[in-house]
Amino acid sequence: MNVALAPRPSVVLRDADEAFVTLDGVTKVFGKGKASMTALENVSLELRKGEFVCILGTSGCGKSTLLSLVAGLDKVTSGTIEIADGRPAVMFQEPALLPWLTVRRNVELPMRLHKVDTEERNKTVNRLLSMVGLIDFADHRPHQLSGGMRQRCALARALAQDSELLLMDEPFAALDALTRDQLHDDLNRIWQETGKTIIFVTHNVREAVRLGDRVVLMTPRPGRVARIWDVDIARPRELDSFEVSGLAHEITAQLRAGAAGNGAQ
Ligand SMILES: Nc1ncnc2c1ncn2[C@@H]1O[C@H](COP(=O)(O)OP(=O)(O)O)[C@@H](O)[C@H]1O
Ligand SMILES: [Mg+2]
Repeated sequence: MNVALAPRPSVVLRDADEAFVTLDGVTKVFGKGKASMTALENVSLELRKGEFVCILGTSGCGKSTLLSLVAGLDKVTSGTIEIADGRPAVMFQEPALLPWLTVRRNVELPMRLHKVDTEERNKTVNRLLSMVGLIDFADHRPHQLSGGMRQRCALARALAQDSELLLMDEPFAALDALTRDQLHDDLNRIWQETGKTIIFVTHNVREAVRLGDRVVLMTPRPGRVARIWDVDIARPRELDSFEVSGLAHEITAQLRAGAAGNGAQ
């Protein structure tokens, strides 16, 4: 089904029986002439429906640029992005909750905007708040929550958009290690329960290995796909397990080699 949306010139929607998300030769150049900067170069990638793909790379390699292109927030310079079904939901490092609204109100906002009726809205918000472990905090305001709880709230709000595709830009980067570990477990469970397709951006190698079906390593400046790993490690995974550590070690070695190679240019 092709869904008519507000203009998003770079992103074409198409039937769900093909790859769910396809990036084909995506290049993004910021600025013009001498001052121009190629943030992404010829990035091609296909995601299957329900797949969890982690995009990994050092700071400045174009990860956020890639997500904003897929989200339709910016336009590609060349290449195409195709998404099978609907507009993606996005979650950032900053939870961006509205401080004057309670947790419940923040989460139901996307449904209010879509004019979902009250009964359905309440049912869905309760289900989502239970899913992210915030049902007992429904009437709290963001300043009464810990950093981890705010990100849980932001996750519930992203899920309330009812998009099949969830784009996550370093959502746990500002959290302490223990909280991040809990959120990894919860995200893994929520992904399995909901069957969402997830593109998760991170600069943290272990996080990528812990969560992804595949890990896509990007090169820095310009951002290209350096290598893709299939992660055949049983779920749920532990951050310090032998398998996760082993693959993270291999990827880190490649990351270092890439950074060294790039620095020598
Ligand atoms: N709107 C913009 N205008 C100009 N340059 C930008 C813009 N957005 C990002 N960049 C540049 O593109 C490169 C990639 O940035 P970004 O996608 O934010 O990297 P990452 O998320 O991997 O840290 C950086 O060099 C950044 O300065
Ligand atoms: Mg970024």
